[in-house]
Amino acid sequence: MKILIFGSGGREHALAWAIAKSDRVTEIVCAPGNGGMASLARLVPVSLSDLGAMVEIALRERADLTVVGPELPLSLGLVDALQQRGLKVFGPTQAAAMLESSKSFAKRFLQRHNIPTANYAVCTSAEEVDNAIEFFHPPIVVKADGLAAGKGVVICQSRRSAIEAAQGLFDGKLLGSAEQQLVIEEFLVGEEVSFLCLSDGKHVAPLVPAQDHKRVGEGDTGPNTGGMGVYSTDDILEPEMQEWIMHHIARPTIRGMAEEGTPFVGVLYIGLMMTARGPQVLEFNARFGDPETQAILMRLDSDLVDALEACVEGRLSETEFRWKPGASACVIASSGGYPGSFQTGFAIAGLEDVAAMPNVQIFHSGTAISGGKLRTSGGRVLGVTAVGATLPQALVLAYEAMGKVHFQDMYYRRDIGHRALHKPGAH
Ligand code: AMP
Ligand code: GLY
Repeated sequence: MKILIFGSGGREHALAWAIAKSDRVTEIVCAPGNGGMASLARLVPVSLSDLGAMVEIALRERADLTVVGPELPLSLGLVDALQQRGLKVFGPTQAAAMLESSKSFAKRFLQRHNIPTANYAVCTSAEEVDNAIEFFHPPIVVKADGLAAGKGVVICQSRRSAIEAAQGLFDGKLLGSAEQQLVIEEFLVGEEVSFLCLSDGKHVAPLVPAQDHKRVGEGDTGPNTGGMGVYSTDDILEPEMQEWIMHHIARPTIRGMAEEGTPFVGVLYIGLMMTARGPQVLEFNARFGDPETQAILMRLDSDLVDALEACVEGRLSETEFRWKPGASACVIASSGGYPGSFQTGFAIAGLEDVAAMPNVQIFHSGTAISGGKLRTSGGRVLGVTAVGATLPQALVLAYEAMGKVHFQDMYYRRDIGHRALHKPGAH
């Protein structure tokens, strides 16, 4: 079987790694891929914003299954374009991907289907913001409607600053094209959980839960990033809580999308806030999380290709998943300065030493080979990922591996998993 993967991040490296473990797979192509994927796949350069070029590659490669990783090509309609040409492709259509690409669409959908989420208002002008803001108590959350790579959310401590943040979005000072509409939202308090499910449009299969660390600084301080590290253990959600989320959130979402004529096939990533009044949906993503996927797939013990194919063929209910018990953790090594400005092009050392360590994998995000050397090429550079019998074991192993890696300006958080480790009863 030949598999084509679109994307270039750590998520796609982890997907390629898990796909390569399937006995059924003989060839993997990644477009564009990154420096770390070259040993698993043939890399084909492409821009993930160039729909025509991506379609051309898929038609030329004629893979048995195409997997679309990131949100941008999904929101451009890559899945629709490939389906129309008779290709088997894993991921939601453009209409279904609106659960991620438009926050106003997602909020209205949640409300229509009585799925728990924060109170909100959709505004298209400063006057609407002025009127709506009266109904919210600080802190107030202001969100750009469209895709903003995790940077479209502002948490405001006063009504005045919320109005200013909204004005900033309308003026386009903070964002590029994501500003025509915005969502104002009630601030929720609690712990965040990344709950990812596979769906074939009808059935839903949960993956193991994960917890991301979005802030750049230790102790969850500083600006939001794409994710600085993640861990996965079954303890994140008790079985009853997981079933509650399946019953009240995951299944109603998939059912609602099917009823509305836009069935959702792919990964439904539900970003949850575990509040005192129960789990609430913070956001949907229409794709695998990054770096959640790195930690989740390290725990998968069954065939990923079987599961992805079952989604595309509408027979997910027949698929069995096996998971490693225990825990996994992924710590991101980033370029110093990220998510602000940073320099790239630095040589990366120490990866051979980590390759010899059992139960550890390094998934590349922002790396490229230039001048025959592996170099940094992005904000998030590497995801050092480990599995262990317990979370402390997985974390110790990930940090031991991190200690062997080096590049100039390298930065990583030393406190990934801190919330779980400090919980009563944690060992
Ligand atoms: P989103 O892109 O909507 O997931 O927002 C990014 C991050 O902002 C979330 O992961 C939360 O940490 C935070 N956030 C978003 N919405 C809220 C909310 N209503 N209350 C509290 N924090 C939020
Ligand atoms: N880790 C957060 C995301 O993938 O959006």
